[in-house]
Formats: sequence, C-alpha cells, structure tokens
Amino acid sequence: MNTTPIRIVSLGKAVPKTVITNDDLTKILDTSDEWITTRTGIKQRHIASGDENSLTIGVQAAKEALAKGNLEGKDIDLIIAATSNPYNIYPSTACSIADAIDAKLGTVAFDITAACTGMIYAMEIARSMISSGKYQRALLVATDTVSKFVNWEDRSTCVLFGDGASSMILEKSPDGQDDIIAIDINADGKQGRHITMHLNGTNCPLVEPAQGSNERVMMNGKEVYKFVVTTMPDSVNNCIENCGLKPEDIDYLVPHQANLRIIDALQQRLNYTDEKVITNIDKYGNTSAASVGIALSEAIEEGKIKTPSTAILCAFGAGMTWGSVIIKLREGIY
Ligand code: ACO
Repeated sequence: MNTTPIRIVSLGKAVPKTVITNDDLTKILDTSDEWITTRTGIKQRHIASGDENSLTIGVQAAKEALAKGNLEGKDIDLIIAATSNPYNIYPSTACSIADAIDAKLGTVAFDITAACTGMIYAMEIARSMISSGKYQRALLVATDTVSKFVNWEDRSTCVLFGDGASSMILEKSPDGQDDIIAIDINADGKQGRHITMHLNGTNCPLVEPAQGSNERVMMNGKEVYKFVVTTMPDSVNNCIENCGLKPEDIDYLVPHQANLRIIDALQQRLNYTDEKVITNIDKYGNTSAASVGIALSEAIEEGKIKTPSTAILCAFGAGMTWGSVIIKLREGIY
C-alpha cells in the first residue's frame, strides 16, 4: 500500500508520582535489590496511587504532546489510545481523552490492545488512516497501570512492572518528508498463553452462584524470554532490511524496556555501541505500552538522542505481539 508521508510533530510522557524501589519491595516480598537488578536491570518503578490511573496519566501525556506541538484539542481529528489496563472499558480511554482535551465534535477516538507493542501498532493504524485521506492529525496515547493488575504476592511477576504513559502526534507531512520509514508489526496468538490477564466477569446469578474473579497478570517469564530473544531481533532486522537500510544506518535503538538482558542480547546481535542503545528500565521498570515512547521522549529531552537522526523503536508483549518502526527525528523535535 502507498502511504502518505507523515510528520512526527511532538512527543509526551507522564508517570505517577510515587516511586517504589527494589528495597521497598523487600517489605512485602521475599526478594532483594540484588536479584531484581541482576535479572532485570530494574532499580525502581513509578506506581499509581490515590486518584491516579491509566486515564489520568494518559491525559497528562496527551496534553504534554499538544503543548510541545503548539496545538490544541480542536486541531486533532483522530485519537488512538493503546492500553491493556483501561480505567473504563467504556467510555473508551480515547473518548475520555477527547473530552479532557476538548477535541472537536466528531473526532474519531478508539482504544486498541496490543500490550507492550501498543504504540507501534497505533503508529501503523494512524499512518494507514491518515493515508486514507480522511484524517489530518492523530494523537496517539499509550498508557498502562499494570500495578493495579499484578499479583503482589507473585514475586516473579510484580517486580517487573511500573506505570506510565507516552504520547505522539502524527500529521500528514506538510513538506513531503516522511518521518516513518518502515513499520513491521506481528502477532502469534498460539503463544498467547505465556502472558494472560482474564476479564471473566461473572455469570448471571440465576445460572450459577457468584464466583471470585482472577483478574491478575499471569506470566511464564522463561517462555516469554525464549520467544522474544529470537522474534525481536528478527523483527528489527526485517524492518531494517526491507527498506534497504543496514544496521549501521540507524543512529539509535529504542527498545521496549522489559528486561536489560533482552536488550543486551539485541544490542549484541546488531553490534551497536552503548551510546546507540537507549535504556531507562532502571528508573521505570516495564511500563507496558508506554515504554518505548517514554524512553524516546526522555532520551531526546536529556540529549542522549541528538536530532536530526534515525531511530528504530521495537517492542513485544502479550498476545504475543511484537514489532518495530524506523523513524526520522527532525531537528528540534521534543
Ligand atoms: N526475587 C527473588 N527470587 C525470585 C524472584 C524475585 N523477585 N522471582 C523469582 N525468583 C526466584 C525463582 O523462584 C527461582 O527460584 P528457584 O530456582 O529456587 O526455583 C529463581 O529466582 C529463578 O527464577 P527464574 O524464573 O528461573 O528466573 P529467570 O532468570 O528466568 O528470570 C524473569 C525471571 C526476570 C521474569 C525473566 O524470565 C524475564 O525477564 N522474562 C521475560 C519477561 C518479560 O519480558 N515480560 C514482558 C512482559 S510484556 C507484557 O506484555 C505484559
């Protein structure tokens, strides 16, 4: 399919204010800073408290991208929220964001679920919808508060996650330069059993007595690890090769921040130096769909990513889903 050139206008991010360190977790779990750090690279994570939820931080991230792009809600005609932990199933997170930013009547808004690959899926969907000619400018918001759904007694899972939101505004490129060079997205439902979170609901009491719910994240970490260390590098390589580039043509790798050992394996396969690989897992843990966007936005803010440059974002998550996108970062984007 021929796609319309897209400009990446601006980025945003938000995390809850409360920070929980590995040492804090030892108060409720049989774990240690040493175990978590050596197995994952995580030192702390931000955790929602009080009124904070995936919608409130999603709205914060959305407003930041609008402000950075010198835009208002009325300038957006498409909103896609990528979330696996919506505050409400309905209204959708995207519709509530439309309300919060005062989007104009008729702005199309919907949620998608692709777990940690959500932002990359949202970019592909937005690019296709802008290419249809019906939409000019899309606000993408990836937001998750996995802390509300993990089992805090399961030390092999709960220590891995943090809460966060990231956002990106895409528009039909006004100068014809295309900032999205290539996207590769994938899913394999047969592997879905490795990370699950059921939303069973309960049957009508006339057909059976009420039962407890088990709406908690369950993960077979070893199987996810094995699956990802082959699929992720393959996706990154395919994405690079299919558009005629070589790994050395990419200035920065911005991987999903799930486990430092997975990132290291990817870095070695691509033969990239440390300066080319963006990591912030030590500060945030795995923020699910928000992860790549937070890493990208923060690295630009902190000057770790210089512009203009070319970056590849890659992610994997429940589903299983995985994907990569090669983007151009214009001078001065933030
Ligand atoms: N603290 C201390 N010990 C622990 C902890 C903990 N927090 N968690 C597990 N252990 C113990 C286990 O009980 C086990 O003990 P045993 O040997 O006595 O049985 C031992 O540590 C080793 O456990 P493993 O599961 O073998 O540890 P492993 O080296 O595989 O690391 C990890 C586990 C970090 C989860 C790893 O498998 C991993 O990162 N997998 C990928 C997970 C991932 O990326 N998920 C992304 C999800 S994205 C989404 O969409 C939700």
